[in-house]
Amino acid sequence: MTTILVTGGTGFIGSHTTVALQQAGYHVLILDNLSNSSVQVLDAIATITGTRPEFIQGDIRDAALLDSLFAAQPVSAVLHFAGLKAVGESVAMPLAYYDNNVHGSVQLLQAMQRAQVRTLVFSSSATVYGDPQALPLTEDHPRSATNPYGHTKLVVEDILENLHASEAGWRIARLRYFNPVGAHPSGLIGEAPQGVPNNLMPYVAQVATGQRERVQVFGNDYNTPDGTGVRDYIHVTDLADGHVHALQYCLQARQDLLTVNLGTGVGYSVLDMIRAFEQASGKTIAYDIVGRRTGDIAACWADTELAYEKLGWRARKTIQDMCDDAWRWESK
Ligand code: NAD
Ligand code: WQD
Repeated sequence: MTTILVTGGTGFIGSHTTVALQQAGYHVLILDNLSNSSVQVLDAIATITGTRPEFIQGDIRDAALLDSLFAAQPVSAVLHFAGLKAVGESVAMPLAYYDNNVHGSVQLLQAMQRAQVRTLVFSSSATVYGDPQALPLTEDHPRSATNPYGHTKLVVEDILENLHASEAGWRIARLRYFNPVGAHPSGLIGEAPQGVPNNLMPYVAQVATGQRERVQVFGNDYNTPDGTGVRDYIHVTDLADGHVHALQYCLQARQDLLTVNLGTGVGYSVLDMIRAFEQASGKTIAYDIVGRRTGDIAACWADTELAYEKLGWRARKTIQDMCDDAWRWESK
């Protein structure tokens, strides 16, 4: 069996991608420091797929650990999810973000280089597009960052480009995710943010369960159909499937540096998402319109043609699927 190292594999997107990889016939080895996830995810994955992924609790910044891991068994490719992802926290703790996301990625790449493992799929983000100059966002849209988190993604994207140009043999995919939401349809794995959720959908889900009282809708005076922010929400299992396609592309391609959007190509507003969640949960989601959140953009959605052309992949699930599955997970 082909072994894939999944850093951050007990996290939200990594766990769903582990399921998809196992179901596609890969052997998965997870490396995660459990800073934002729980070891119980491994049991849930085993229940879904029948196979418990191999797991090492450790940090991507631990070079000796990485060397021993690569020495112990042949790894064909690395899917690199590990990192910190909260925009507000990155403003308050920039050094932690540069250390985890940039220094951590460099440590991982150096260990891969030593082990001659040169196939990598990297979790980038639509945040690298900054405030869109035109929609839908194509991969050649100029990049910018308005916060330290976004900056770490820009820097790692650049490091990967430099590395790819410097040495033959690297096969790298930089995947720019739009807004991943939802959960596995089994309800066994999903998004489990610590503390007050930063993102819209986990917050809405917690209002539906009664853990929180009301959603604050950040602004209804944007230039969008109902005035609230518009985003390209993508079901996390569609995203996971996109990773399997990207991995297969890399394993087949000779020496490519692939950069693609993973989104649906369709934008929905905050109020659309609240209504879809009401439908899914049968609950009324109370909300207040409040002022805009600093740094937010009005609207953002992906051009999905390059992903389809290169990977033969498209997202399939609707916002109702996303909300139904998120509700199944949340209500468990
Ligand atoms: P997550 O926090 O659920 O998962 C990240 C995992 O990495 C966690 O399990 C955490 O414990 C682990 N981790 C963090 N730092 C580590 C380190 N130094 N060593 C080892 N493990 C470490 O986040 P997610 O939503 O699954 O995001 C995965 C990746 O996708 C991240 O790189 C994130 O920036 C990127 N991304 C996420 C979104 C989103 O909205 N969720 C959007 C675009 C890009
Ligand atoms: C979605 C919409 C908010 C919360 C963030 C990161 C981005 C990427 C995905 C990693 C916006 C509105 C939100 C709330 C609200 N992550 N909202 N009330 O900001 O598009 O993207 O996550 O790469 O980098 O910035 O996602 O879910 O926070 O917000 O009204 O309590 O919901 O204003 O219009 P965002 P989000």
